[in-house]
Amino acid sequence: MSGSRITVTRPLVGSWREILVEAGEVVLVGTPERCDRDRLRRELATADALVCLLTDRIDRELIEAAPRLKVIGNCAVGVDNIDVQAAFERGITICHTPGMLTNATADLTMALLLAVARRIVEADRFVREGGWTVWQPGLILGLELSGSTLGILGMGRIGQAVAQRAVAFGLKVVYWDRQPVQEAQSIPAEYLELDDLLGQSDIVCLHLPLTLETEQLMNRERLGAMKPGSILINTARGRIVDEEALVQSLRSGHLSGAGLDVYEREPEIHPGLLELKQVVLLPHIGSATHRTRTAMASAVCRDVVKVLGGQRPEHPLVV
Ligand code: GLV
Repeated sequence: MSGSRITVTRPLVGSWREILVEAGEVVLVGTPERCDRDRLRRELATADALVCLLTDRIDRELIEAAPRLKVIGNCAVGVDNIDVQAAFERGITICHTPGMLTNATADLTMALLLAVARRIVEADRFVREGGWTVWQPGLILGLELSGSTLGILGMGRIGQAVAQRAVAFGLKVVYWDRQPVQEAQSIPAEYLELDDLLGQSDIVCLHLPLTLETEQLMNRERLGAMKPGSILINTARGRIVDEEALVQSLRSGHLSGAGLDVYEREPEIHPGLLELKQVVLLPHIGSATHRTRTAMASAVCRDVVKVLGGQRPEHPLVV
């Protein structure tokens, strides 16, 4: 294993390199901003392991260009950037970061939810632009969380962590998933069918993985089924939402606001979203705390070293 070649697409956070060199030679292909696909393909010709990010599209073509590849370490919980089927056909192990970013992402979801419900970004701009000349009873009124209903789509780890936080804010929590989730009962969060949830929730937040079933789940029809005046929060994956339909729902006033950390074509943002002041836009920073990003990088690199050494990884992707 000490003779292994490990290809890393872009630099990570913390002591990732020190961990990986235990297993062999580390080749860093790109910079934080850019990883050249042709150079990556050339490096993969002799690589035993690949460490990559959610922004790196690891498709069948790249996997086929890597005849020695034993393991892919994806520094993310979502694996929609990888052709999992192509990797599994070749017997390649995929490791990722389940559980490590639950709290960071749930915190960011609450931050977005509060920012949109209480119009924080709009209020900040108003102050900076000199608009605040007198205190007024009707100035920048928002939605009160206590007593409102939060609908969570996807009650996995992150959905549950958001539900727990939401209950502490006095929100009533309802959720939808493929099936009711045992742990939800004690939160408490009530299971609803999707259409009922959309019609009853003042805020809907998304915590689903991106799969063939969830892609464009929030299409024109489902956005239209949301309660008038409600808010959409997405810290999961952009392609779960039809962004054009979202812009139209916001423009028409059917939705009163949205908080987005993820987009259909990251880092491109739909121009309609940029024009709307009731939308808060973040640059995919759900897991971006010092502690979480360091933990994610270390865990993925340790797992890659384990696989190269013939040991079982701690966080293999199981489908
Ligand atoms: C972040 O979006 C992740 O999947 O880890």
